Amino acid sequence: MRRLFMAAAACAALVLTGPADAQSPIIIKFSHVVAPNTPKGLAADKFKELAEKYTDGKVKVEVYPNSQLYKDKEELEALQLGAVQMLAPSNSKFGPIGIREFEVFDLPYILPDLPTLRKVTDGPLGARLLKLLDAKGMSGLAYWDNGFKQMTANKKLVAPADYKGLKFRIQSSKVLEAQFRSLGAIPQVMAFSEVYQSLQTGVVDGQENTPSNIYTQKMHEVQKYTTLTNHGYIGYVVVANKKFWDGQTPEIRAALEKAMKEATAYGNGQSAKENDDALAEMKKSGKTEFITLTPEQDAAMRKAMEPVYNDVAGRVGKPLIEEFLKETKATTN
Ligand code: LMR
Repeated sequence: MRRLFMAAAACAALVLTGPADAQSPIIIKFSHVVAPNTPKGLAADKFKELAEKYTDGKVKVEVYPNSQLYKDKEELEALQLGAVQMLAPSNSKFGPIGIREFEVFDLPYILPDLPTLRKVTDGPLGARLLKLLDAKGMSGLAYWDNGFKQMTANKKLVAPADYKGLKFRIQSSKVLEAQFRSLGAIPQVMAFSEVYQSLQTGVVDGQENTPSNIYTQKMHEVQKYTTLTNHGYIGYVVVANKKFWDGQTPEIRAALEKAMKEATAYGNGQSAKENDDALAEMKKSGKTEFITLTPEQDAAMRKAMEPVYNDVAGRVGKPLIEEFLKETKATTN
């Protein structure tokens, strides 16, 4: 009698709560450092929506924006330790964990536009770079866009000489360090979450970023001038903890890959608009004065930064830089 009662109770529990895998979904913690209404924030939220849909709720994606869980350097360590399962750090942030090759994307003026970038990320070089992550316990899943960087400061930045002696916050990339040194400025590596306050309190004088990042962090409110230089690119490498990713069943992984493919197309399809809208909002706010360079001033900036290619060739790899340049010049059919 007692045994029957126990069995009945177990059945009732099963009916009430469903089978074990339905009540305990696989959790993916996706940590990032920017606001939800940015190209990366929107793509991460789209991935969550699609991943949960395509796995029929067997996977639950928890997106943690705005460095809520971890700052830049910590999030990569957390991923490697398995404390979070997914991230999308910028290309510039892989150097400190020993992968310098992604810094090639940081070279000044290396990418004239997004279609050119796509030739690299969608081609064999893009695939090879993702493979480098395996050795660090990460699976490289996709490239997500942000956009092109602008310079901000409390001083008018027109000519290379205007940068001399100013402190600029940079991401943790030696190429970016060399870039600011080529202008006579003083680069300072700092986590993204600390930039606004450092600009506000004068710890640094200026920074470079995309309009969507500047606007959503309110940096333009504490920077008198924004110079439209488009001198560099910020994009992301979506990475998963390799053990976690490889440990999924083929069905789950296929569903997640489909979600990733579609979220990537969605995010990359609207990153340019996100940045255009942010720029328009910055202009509307009237809090920062915009400076547009003449072709001559633009040429002077390019010339000043040219030595960077040689300066970092030893670190990033001369053949890699050459291959990158070749791919960006290849014609698309
Ligand atoms: C930065 O640190 O400036 C950016 O990489 C932040 C981001 O993730 O876009």
